[in-house]
Amino acid sequence: MIGAQWGDEGKGKITDLLSRSADVVVRYQGGVNAGHTVVVRDRTFKLHLIPSGILYPDTECIIGSGTVIDPQVLLDEIDQLDKLGIATGNLFISQTAHVTMPYHRLIDSASEDKRGDRKIGTTKRGIGPTYADKSERTGIRMIDLMDADNLRDQLHWAVSYKNAILEKLYGLPPLEPAGIIEQYLGYAERLRPHVVDSSLKINEAVRRRQNVLFEGAQGTLLDLDHGTYPYVTSSNPIAGGACIGAGVGPTIIDRVIGVAKAYTTRVGEGPFPTELHGEVGQLLGDRGAEFGTTTGRRRRCGWFDGVIGRYAVRINGLDCLAITKLDVLDELPEIKVCVAYELDGEACREFPSSARQFAKCQPVYKTLPGWQQSTADCRSLNDLPSQALDYLKFLAELMEIPIAIVSLGASRDQTIVVEDPIHGPKRALLNDNGAPV
Ligand code: GDP
Ligand code: IMO
Ligand code: MG
Repeated sequence: MIGAQWGDEGKGKITDLLSRSADVVVRYQGGVNAGHTVVVRDRTFKLHLIPSGILYPDTECIIGSGTVIDPQVLLDEIDQLDKLGIATGNLFISQTAHVTMPYHRLIDSASEDKRGDRKIGTTKRGIGPTYADKSERTGIRMIDLMDADNLRDQLHWAVSYKNAILEKLYGLPPLEPAGIIEQYLGYAERLRPHVVDSSLKINEAVRRRQNVLFEGAQGTLLDLDHGTYPYVTSSNPIAGGACIGAGVGPTIIDRVIGVAKAYTTRVGEGPFPTELHGEVGQLLGDRGAEFGTTTGRRRRCGWFDGVIGRYAVRINGLDCLAITKLDVLDELPEIKVCVAYELDGEACREFPSSARQFAKCQPVYKTLPGWQQSTADCRSLNDLPSQALDYLKFLAELMEIPIAIVSLGASRDQTIVVEDPIHGPKRALLNDNGAPV
């Protein structure tokens, strides 16, 4: 299950929903930059690293090797769940995941400041610098954290190396290795019971023919290789990233579900062709409570973008879609959908790779009538106002894939499952009468 836009599509809610049919849920990339909100009855859970499947007592949750782990935030999350009576004995952490260190967070913040107008608008959680160290082959992995002598040795060297950068490049005071070593050895003791060979564990579950759900964080357009570079995150949220980040072969993945909002949001910098700066954007932000789960920043809002939607279908090989937050559009008299861009006076139907060109794209809209009534209590496609159903049909036709799930509110029950995306027939798509949507 992946995000088909710029993140915050409602993946947490959909993972929670799909986890009912999953024996194992695996988070395969990203770190505590992610913020996933799950509402169960009157309780709200905010998760950053732990897969949203944790709310089911029999589901195993695995944080895979493609993730980066901030141990303090992870332990806070475990404590938060413990307090709420949610067991975390079924939580496993890959021994090869990389660890976010205090210098990663400092460098993330300081480099954003130095970039000035060129800043990315990161979450300042040290994500980019942790992945940079992984690529530079100076990173510290969970398995290093488990070995005190090794950790001391690696951290002494790493801190002296990073101190040169902190002092000379950013004018910041140096860090003291001894304190960091003690702090991280403390984290290691608490996390040790959870640390495993995650690829082995996942592949064993596959061999037992259990259902494994791979949960992407962020979204397709934030992908390091295929997103709106440089305004992206430093990992691969796309479906292909699941194989690398979980340590499984592509042949084991049966189907890929994309989650998209019925409109679009983005947090941080970077081009966003369908962004709405006026009243409608404000209304979407207010009705959708569009504030970041991790940083509290107001999310930028705009109309649904079919060009990036089709791009997400292509890059991820999507089988079907979950459309979330349809209810947020309830009050609007008319709704626009971007069907193409105009770029330098010419029609453009494919996502341009250059950020400069993307910034120049003007959306070409199709306007559809709104329904101006509440959909929050609809529980089947038949309950939906005809304009809402037409809107969904339009999106499915534009994206050329079926819609399997429609979400109309944050709670579990505010959902229409059109077709079971795990057990249902592969490309099926059907409304309640069995007709294609
Ligand atoms: P994620 O990062 O993709 O998991 O998404 P977030 O949790 O960051 O943001 C989605 C927000 O929308 C959360 O606050 C959810 O509780 C909420 N949400 C999810 N689905 C719906 C929906 O269908 N309607 C409304 N109104 N809110 C929803
Ligand atoms: P979930 O999983 C939305 C954005 C940041 C910034 C860019 C790079 O909740 O959908 P980073 O800190 O990753 O180096 O920041 O990516 N970003 C997200 N936007 N949802 C997220 O996660 C995000 N994680 C990172 O705002 O623009
Ligand atoms: Mg989020």
